[in-house]
Amino acid sequence: MIYSKIKLSPPQSALPFPDTKSAGFDWALVLNNLDFTKCLDGQSVELTQFDRFLGALGASHLLNFAFAQRLDRNTPWDITNVSVPWRLAIKAASRVYKRGVKLIPADTKHISIQETEIIFLDSNQQKANDRIPKDFEFFDYIEDGDFIVIDKNFYDLNIKSLSKLAKYRHHVVNILEREKTHLSAVKLSNAITASVTRIVTIGGGVLGDLVGFVASQREIQSVYIPTTLLSMADSSVGGKTGINFEPYGKNQVGAFHFPAKTIIEPKCLATLPMREIYSGLAECLKHAFISNDRSLWDGLIEISRSSLDQMEICELLKIVQVKADIVSRDPFEYGERALLNFGHTLGHALETFSIERDGDQCLSHGQCVIVGMIYAIRLAQKKSLFKKGDPIVQQLLNTALVPSLNFDSQAVGQYISNNISNDKKASHSKVRWVLPSKFGAFHRGSDNQWTVEHEFDSELFCNLMDELGN
Ligand SMILES: NC(=O)c1ccc[n+]([C@@H]2O[C@H](COP(=O)([O-])OP(=O)(O)OC[C@H]3O[C@@H](n4cnc5c(N)ncnc54)[C@H](O)[C@@H]3O)[C@@H](O)[C@H]2O)c1
Repeated sequence: MIYSKIKLSPPQSALPFPDTKSAGFDWALVLNNLDFTKCLDGQSVELTQFDRFLGALGASHLLNFAFAQRLDRNTPWDITNVSVPWRLAIKAASRVYKRGVKLIPADTKHISIQETEIIFLDSNQQKANDRIPKDFEFFDYIEDGDFIVIDKNFYDLNIKSLSKLAKYRHHVVNILEREKTHLSAVKLSNAITASVTRIVTIGGGVLGDLVGFVASQREIQSVYIPTTLLSMADSSVGGKTGINFEPYGKNQVGAFHFPAKTIIEPKCLATLPMREIYSGLAECLKHAFISNDRSLWDGLIEISRSSLDQMEICELLKIVQVKADIVSRDPFEYGERALLNFGHTLGHALETFSIERDGDQCLSHGQCVIVGMIYAIRLAQKKSLFKKGDPIVQQLLNTALVPSLNFDSQAVGQYISNNISNDKKASHSKVRWVLPSKFGAFHRGSDNQWTVEHEFDSELFCNLMDELGN
């Protein structure tokens, strides 16, 4: 039974890459005043597997070059007069560098922008993770000929033995955050035959980001069946796909690829470990904050202190609606969609550090986001943008979502300070932050952007780390 439907309709006019064919140009390669030819000409660039995946020799080489130069996402790459052999490489790299930079002259960009239908199933359920027998309704939305990629843990715990699954082509993937890389993208792409026209992802945000990215490059339609709270509330809505690009950090290479459908069946959450529930709750709280919905916030704070058993499906629906509304208005993040990165500037840097240091025992995405939200509010308070003494920070600190950290705060601070300008929102190597001005409201910088340029405040960070230390 369908419980509710949301339509996410990005305006077609929001296409970021105008469809103007640039014919007859005398190409030269000048990129943000850097002579890219120095990077390419005279080099014997080997064809890598990732080049093959992106469709052009030299694309990975160019990506590395652009990252090493810390080029930001907002400055177009001027490729007037680029020598012929490198045109394809630059186009391929520009399409995925920090989820896409514009080219001058403008390039034809095939971007899959389409309406997403978000379907909520489970009308009989009261609570988000009621333990109802596992007769999943989502199978009704899978079509013959679909290629299904399934998260290994969800598969083992829930659908391995279901006869319904056997009739579809499916591929089971065991993937950790640190494996969300270009190599995994290549490997997955190799498993997908040319005849596949639609990929269904059954899993969490890590798998969804990876499969979505592969689908974007292969120009295949995507359908998400999220199985974690985070992927239901956030990552399977909005069309962002991507991979971590080492050593430059999280989600640095990617593409916008809007799914045709996202099918949310809350009973998938019944087997999700508590750590992952908490991780998802962090993004839910972020949405409640952004939407200025105090009762939703209070309810989630209460749940975050105890357990998900209290979460109503209608609350989950509201949280998804917040994201769908913002994405509909600003699908490619030229404006208010940046607010969804609240807590993520520091959060991503911390997560990258934790993955490097702790491997499988790393902090969850949501734990890092919560720390990032607290840091952003404190930074706003320090800049007198947010009222000191507001109970919001204490409310967050009292939840079970905040990790207790055993970091050497100075060492982590140094690491983050060195790496944070790789953040996708960074511009000209300066870091951009989403800074709230009060509950449900955000400060706009002098350039009227929703992100504000500010250097990383090591002292503020170290104090917070020490406060969260055990
Ligand atoms: N694309 C976006 O807009 C967006 C937004 C937010 C976060 N993200 C990304 O999402 C990722 C985090 O996603 P996540 O939190 O879903 O993590 P995840 O995909 O790693 O899933 C968490 C764990 O839960 C297991 N699992 C999944 N479903 C299960 C179930 N029902 N029962 C038991 N185990 C289950 C998985 O195997 C995994 O071990 C990060 O990489 C983050 O960057 C993307």
